[in-house]
Amino acid sequence: MIGSRSNHILGLDIGTFTVKGVLLEHLKQGYRVIKTGQVPLYERVESYDPTKLSSIDSLGAIKKLITKFNIKPQKTNLVTGLGGAATSLKEIKSIQMTNEELSTSLTFEARKHLPIDESDTIIDFQVLGEDPQNPEQLRILLAASTKKLYSFHEDLLTEAGFKVGAVNLEPLAMVNAYFGLEDYPEEGVIIFLNVGARHTTVVVDGRQDRIFSRDIPIGGHHFTNELAKRRDINYSAAEAIKIEEGIAAFQSTSPDEGGALAIQEKTKIDELVDEISRTLRYYIKETGQNQFNLVVLSGGSANLIGFDEYLSEKISLPVEVYNPFRALETAEQIDSNPANMVVSVGLAMRSE
Ligand SMILES: Nc1ncnc2c1ncn2[C@@H]1O[C@H](COP(=O)(O)OP(=O)(O)OP(=O)(O)O)[C@@H](O)[C@H]1O
Ligand SMILES: [Mg+2]
Repeated sequence: MIGSRSNHILGLDIGTFTVKGVLLEHLKQGYRVIKTGQVPLYERVESYDPTKLSSIDSLGAIKKLITKFNIKPQKTNLVTGLGGAATSLKEIKSIQMTNEELSTSLTFEARKHLPIDESDTIIDFQVLGEDPQNPEQLRILLAASTKKLYSFHEDLLTEAGFKVGAVNLEPLAMVNAYFGLEDYPEEGVIIFLNVGARHTTVVVDGRQDRIFSRDIPIGGHHFTNELAKRRDINYSAAEAIKIEEGIAAFQSTSPDEGGALAIQEKTKIDELVDEISRTLRYYIKETGQNQFNLVVLSGGSANLIGFDEYLSEKISLPVEVYNPFRALETAEQIDSNPANMVVSVGLAMRSE
């Protein structure tokens, strides 16, 4: 049975616009792609409103994906991801301690980065090794989430019939999907950007550099909303224009183009680009590292026509829309857009 073999792992990325899944076979060396799929959370795009989404919408999409893949959820090895503002990924330094002491001190640390009203924190950590600058200290990768988010996620998977497997953080999955298949740069870091519907995840990582992640609450949903308001059209018409015209739809300045933008007005896309620049300046200030080699773009909104070039020009760095299947053997035709499958590929590459 597909999916139930012990070396088959399903990476499931439950977004607020689409649910994405990749079933990978773990070979002795490398992976084979068995299935890929993407299912929207809504029936009709005009009714899409992420503030009104409920677990029923997510559940419906997950069930459709199960049917499409023809798998038995209770027999599937599953890896899922958590992301967004109620999660945190941080690399910190600590003196050598017992695991128990570390756990208490890291829980305290994690609370500083999570919303205060949900201070019920769960953490996971991994010792990365000694700090090369100070051998008495350890480099520790701290992953945290709120109990509320975790239980919601667990309930959803159980409801869909799965045995809850490993739960990873989305930023780590994005990085895994790349560095699991490509080499680390000799020097400097790579910037990973996953532009979804509701949020954008930025991760900076390199061979020896401190991993850094930040969540920006701007994504494709905000682009579409803005276009709908400015042009006084409904959401689905704006979504169709966005997909057809790409970034040009946001840049037109002539007033006879249906109330397009005045030239001085900042678009949501520019707000996002500003936040990305700010994040990179912060990273330089914190780490002293300013050699950014490449921006690896993923997520549904990575497909916005012209966005890669626009971003590249604005931040003066090369930008590549990432295809995680590029170096993978595939068992069948991939019917989903590759850049949007990066998180699911990264999740499915995890082997426990
Ligand atoms: N060809 C395209 N051009 C422009 N935007 C696109 C295109 N295809 C998808 N999108 C946009 O991508 C967004 C969905 O991306 P994605 O599937 O990564 O989101 P998600 O993971 O469900 O959301 P989130 O991670 O924010 O919760 C939508 O806003 C959609 O309009
Ligand atoms: Mg997403």
